[in-house]
Parts: sequence; C-alpha cells; structure tokens
Amino acid sequence: MSDSPPSDPQPDRGRPPDRSASEPRRDFLKKAAAAGIGTAIVLVPVAAGLATVFDPLRRKGSAGEKVFVTSLDSLPQDGLPQKFAILASRIDAWNSFPNAPVGAVYLRRTSDNQVEALNVVCPHAGCFVDFRQEKKDFFCPCHNSSFSLDGKIADRKSPAPRGLDGLEVEIRNEKEVWVKFQNFQTGHARKIPVA
Ligand code: FES
Repeated sequence: MSDSPPSDPQPDRGRPPDRSASEPRRDFLKKAAAAGIGTAIVLVPVAAGLATVFDPLRRKGSAGEKVFVTSLDSLPQDGLPQKFAILASRIDAWNSFPNAPVGAVYLRRTSDNQVEALNVVCPHAGCFVDFRQEKKDFFCPCHNSSFSLDGKIADRKSPAPRGLDGLEVEIRNEKEVWVKFQNFQTGHARKIPVA
C-alpha cells in the first residue's frame, strides 16, 4: 500500500465540452433581442399615429386673418348696422371645414367708402347683442347691457366691462368689405384676443 497522495484528476480529452451552463443565457439574449425588435415594430407606427392625431391641435386656425364679408353696395347709406356671418376655414379637432361660420359682425357705413365693424359678442359674458331698430342701439338680452351705434356703453348700469369690440376693416378694389375677424375674452375692461 502506498502513502502518496491521490493524483489530480486528469481532464477527459475525449469528451465534448459541457455547454449546458451557457445555453440558458444564450436563449435569454435571443428572447430579449426579439422582444426589443417587436416593441420597436409596435411603437414606431404608434408614434407616427399619435403625431398625425395631434397634428390638428398644433395647427393655427384663421383667427385674426382678414375675410371677405360683403360688397360696399350692400350696406345702406343711412349708417344703420347690418348683421353678417363671418365664414372662414375652421379646424375642429381632426377635421377642416372650409367656409364655416366662425362668428358674426355688425357692419355700418359711416361715409361713402368707410365702414365700421363690431363683433356681435357681448363683452360681459358672451351673449349675442341685437340691434334695436326703434332705439337705434345694440342691446344684450342676457343682462341688459346697451351700446350706442359706435359700440360704446350707452347705459351706465350695463354690466358689460367695455364697449362692443371694434374690428379692423379694409375696402379692397373699391367695393369689397374685408374684416379682420377676432374674438376677445369676455369679462375684462380691455380687449384680450382669444388665441
Ligand atoms: S352677456 Fe351681455 S350683458 Fe351679460
């Protein structure tokens, strides 16, 4: 019997290397790569869709642009106001409406080739004012504000904080009445355009 220590085990050179430990890791990497590609395939069209969906919200409407309203001949020489709808392109959420009503104005001829325009919206709380033929003034039926022909507050008891909102008018080609239409915030003493 020998007292020498047992010799170190020799590698078995005839057996193939044991890959069982590295295979689960390789499978995991393959699955992770497939999941990443799948996520990208889903997210790219979704991102493109969202950009399309929200695109109209980023576009500007036609507020503040001059729009053709009527011909000068259609306004009477007596200086009494006539009411006209304002038609313009309107973008509502995802749809575009060409020539849609976006508001209304009273037009009044103050000389042969001069016209004044007033927004019909009452600056108190946004009701539409009426022109009273018998009193030759504008009257808001919601809380009884009254305005003179030039839009100024007529009755000091009127709750409106300012007169009717005047709008810029341009006469083009000597007969076309164009108005820079704009709505303003209600409830303020000064005119603050609605964005
Ligand atoms: S909304 Fe016109 S007076 Fe109040």
